[in-house]
Amino acid sequence: MSKVTDFPTSAKLLHWLSALLIICMLFLGVSMIQSLAPWHDSALRLHQSVGVLVLILVCIRLINRLLIKVPALPTDLSRWQRLAAKGSQVLLYLLMVALPISGWLMQNAAGLPVSFFGIFQLPLFVEASLRSYGLFRELHALLAWSLLAVIVLHISAALHHGVIRKDSVLPSMLFKFKSRK
Ligand code: HEM
Repeated sequence: MSKVTDFPTSAKLLHWLSALLIICMLFLGVSMIQSLAPWHDSALRLHQSVGVLVLILVCIRLINRLLIKVPALPTDLSRWQRLAAKGSQVLLYLLMVALPISGWLMQNAAGLPVSFFGIFQLPLFVEASLRSYGLFRELHALLAWSLLAVIVLHISAALHHGVIRKDSVLPSMLFKFKSRK
């Protein structure tokens, strides 16, 4: 059976699109809590809708991941490096799902529905209560900072493979553009 050396285009597109959106959302979230300027309400509406888009993309990504063949890790990696790679991947997926859901529940606990770009509203899952609002808000912040920490580790590992080890891991997630002669 032939081995795959690259992620399929569907996986690359979903990876880079969700990475871009999540990094913008981390910056947007932090800037929102530091300002009550007139743009705060529009920023919050955008933050919620893009957060729901991230949740949808991550669900599509998980289904896609189950259907595609992915390249194997280099054979010379140690046991702990393999464990760290798998563990951080699982953690990334868990955080990418849990973070938007915690934001959704936080808004419900504040008595507010969550709208997706004004196209549809998500169902209300929890009753309005100040106590649950506080809890979900703290959870949302904790998950956001944990996701940032795992993303920093993920980027460091990718650069270690690409710049120091110069192996096949980083190129397997990059787009290859053929130069015209
Ligand atoms: C990829 C998904 C998301 C990311 C990366 C993200 C990130 C963040 C960050 C970093 C903060 C600031 C946390 C702090 O230090 O206190 C924040 C705040 C907040 N997020 Fe999210 N978030 C996401 C999804 C959502 C969703 C889906 C909702 C609601 C449906 C939401 C609602 C909120 C609210 C209400 C705040 C507090 C804003 C304020 O009080 O000014 N977030 N988010």
